[in-house]
Amino acid sequence: MKILVLHGPNLNLLGTREPGIYGTLTLAEINQRLHTLANTLGVTELRTQQSNHEGMLVDAFHDARNWANGVLINPGAYTHTSIALRDAISAVGLPVVEAHLSNVYAREAFRHHSMLAGVCVGSLCGFGYNSYALGLQALVWHIQKGA
Ligand code: DQA
Repeated sequence: MKILVLHGPNLNLLGTREPGIYGTLTLAEINQRLHTLANTLGVTELRTQQSNHEGMLVDAFHDARNWANGVLINPGAYTHTSIALRDAISAVGLPVVEAHLSNVYAREAFRHHSMLAGVCVGSLCGFGYNSYALGLQALVWHIQKGA
């Protein structure tokens, strides 16, 4: 069981970025917690990657075809804009779960639509770090069910 965790733009600033919305955990702390959780879920390899660049995230999906069983992504603002990321998910055919720290549906209207949700297995939002934790667990269950 090998999983890629992708973090999109501005998530490198977690900890200091609008903590009232996104909490005080840093990205390194989130990744550390995910590694610990992954061990308990039987994930043998968990790679984490963050990029502020859409094309880098597309490349990460393409590369994941060669080694990963699934992808957990917080696409940041690209959630709401990126047809390129949606097409990458469709193209690689790996199961993908979308996670957001904040409840995007309780925020500005432009955050209410996800370009990616329709090609993902499912989505979690509004639970802070636990959106990632629940998303990782759901992704592993989904992959095991299909095995
Ligand atoms: C986010 C929500 C997005 O709308 C926003 O652009 C982000 C973070 C979240 O985790 O809540 O960058 O994906």
